[in-house]
Amino acid sequence: MKSCNLNKRLRSCLIGTACAVLLPVIAQADELSRAAMLSYTCAGCHGTNGISPGSIPSIYCKTADTIEKALKEYRDGTRFSTVMGRHVKGYTDDEIQLIAGFFGTYCNEKIGIKK
Ligand code: HEC
Repeated sequence: MKSCNLNKRLRSCLIGTACAVLLPVIAQADELSRAAMLSYTCAGCHGTNGISPGSIPSIYCKTADTIEKALKEYRDGTRFSTVMGRHVKGYTDDEIQLIAGFFGTYCNEKIGIKK
C-alpha cells in the first residue's frame, strides 16, 4: 500500500515536471512553425531561404522592418506590383509580422551569415 502511494506521487511529480519543462518548448515550437509555415509559401517564387534563382527579387537578408513595410504597401496598393498585391491580401497584420520576423532573422540566425 505504501509503495503504491509513493509510486503514484512519484509519477504525478514526474509528469508535472515534464509538463513544466516541455510546455514552453512546445509553445515556442508552435509559434515558430506558424511563422515558418506562412513563410514557406514565399519560397515558390522567392527561392529557398528567400534566395531567388531567377528574375524575382531575393528577399534574403532584408530586415524584418523592410519586409513588413513592403508587404503592407503591396497589400494597401501603395506600392506597384504584378503579383505581390494579390498574394499578400490574404494576410493579417499579425501574419505579416510573423513572416517578416522569420525572414528578418533568417540571415543571421538560421544560416549564420552576417549582413
Ligand atoms: C507568385 C509569386 C510570388 C510569391 C508566392 C511571393 N512573391 Fe514576393 N514578389 C514577387 C514578385 C513578382 C515581386 C516583384 C513585385 C511584383 O511585381 O509583384 C515580389 C516582391 C517582393 C518583395 C519586394 C522585394 C524588393 O526587393 O523590392 C518582398 C519583400 C516580397 N516580395 C516578399 C514576399 C513574401 C514575404 C512572400 C510570402 C508571404 C512573397 N513575397 C510571396 C512574387 C512572389
